[in-house]
Amino acid sequence: MSVTKKNVAVLGLGAMGTALADALLAAGHRVTVWNRTAARADGPVERGARRANTAAEAVAAAEVVIVCILDYADVGALLADRAGGEVLQGRAVVNLTNGSPEEARSMAERVSALGGAYLDGGIMAVPEMIGRPEALVLYSGERAAFEAYRGVLDGFARSVYLGADAGLAPLNDLALLSGMYGMFGGFAHAAALVRSAGGPVAEFTTGLLVPWLQAMCGGLPAMAAEIDSGDYGATGSSLGMQVAHDSIGALSRAQGVSDELFAPVFALMERRVAGGHGDEGFAGVVEELMRAR
Ligand SMILES: NC(=O)c1ccc[n+]([C@@H]2O[C@H](COP(=O)([O-])OP(=O)(O)OC[C@H]3O[C@@H](n4cnc5c(N)ncnc54)[C@H](OP(=O)(O)O)[C@@H]3O)[C@@H](O)[C@H]2O)c1
Repeated sequence: MSVTKKNVAVLGLGAMGTALADALLAAGHRVTVWNRTAARADGPVERGARRANTAAEAVAAAEVVIVCILDYADVGALLADRAGGEVLQGRAVVNLTNGSPEEARSMAERVSALGGAYLDGGIMAVPEMIGRPEALVLYSGERAAFEAYRGVLDGFARSVYLGADAGLAPLNDLALLSGMYGMFGGFAHAAALVRSAGGPVAEFTTGLLVPWLQAMCGGLPAMAAEIDSGDYGATGSSLGMQVAHDSIGALSRAQGVSDELFAPVFALMERRVAGGHGDEGFAGVVEELMRAR
């Protein structure tokens, strides 16, 4: 399907901004680039981008402005001051800088007050993945802007729009990362146990751990349904059975491996059982986490 060519600005040409600019160039858009350290624009300019001497000049040349710099706290100053706020009038700002939901909401208000449309984005990819089918970018904010520029955004990755609340993209981005770090933590503990017994971690990982985790992932939608309904029915794999013995903690200590990653999870499971939910499965642990609010 051919994509309508647009005038696009990219503010910020670090590793990620450069990958985004290159994807836009590959899709045939007219790309204007600006970076605080001017020399970093040389590569994209050699590949066909137009160089802007100021952020304001880049914004003025475009109908959609992609922002990707290191810190969210600097984005407001970049758009409102260095890019000259009035130049945002009638333009769409797509901010792909990582930040918090609160920062995204306040940026949406700020851009809207300057007459622009705002989309916040969470990039679920490393720069090398940009433009490839396995990359994913989450968006939230003005639906009309997402629909108008979806053809441009789809050149970066698979685009998923989550809703009008600009905070939804960063919230889901961080939730996905928290799932990933939980898996990495489990992997690190499992690898330490295998290594403590002299076993090759590589063989254990490909032969046993990856297929096991893939099988366990199959149970997540059913657990998610329990969490959504608040109905944690009895299960054959009850929490009471799971915490009857701290076998993993005991083995870790015996092998000289720290249980500092696993112990907090086990403590939450024990607390849930102490609260009278020993017949239920693991999903109810989320209720213990929600109590921290
Ligand atoms: N790289 C990844 O794997 C990845 C993945 C997902 C999301 N992200 C997000 O993408 C964003 C950019 O990451 P990156 O990997 O491109 O970082 P990077 O390679 O370190 O580049 C940082 C960029 O931010 C600019 N910058 C920093 N402070 C600035 C300021 N006060 N005003 C204007 N520009 C400023 C830098 O300009 P100078 O060249 O002048 O220093 C540079 O262009 C971050 O929010 C990051 O969390 C990155």
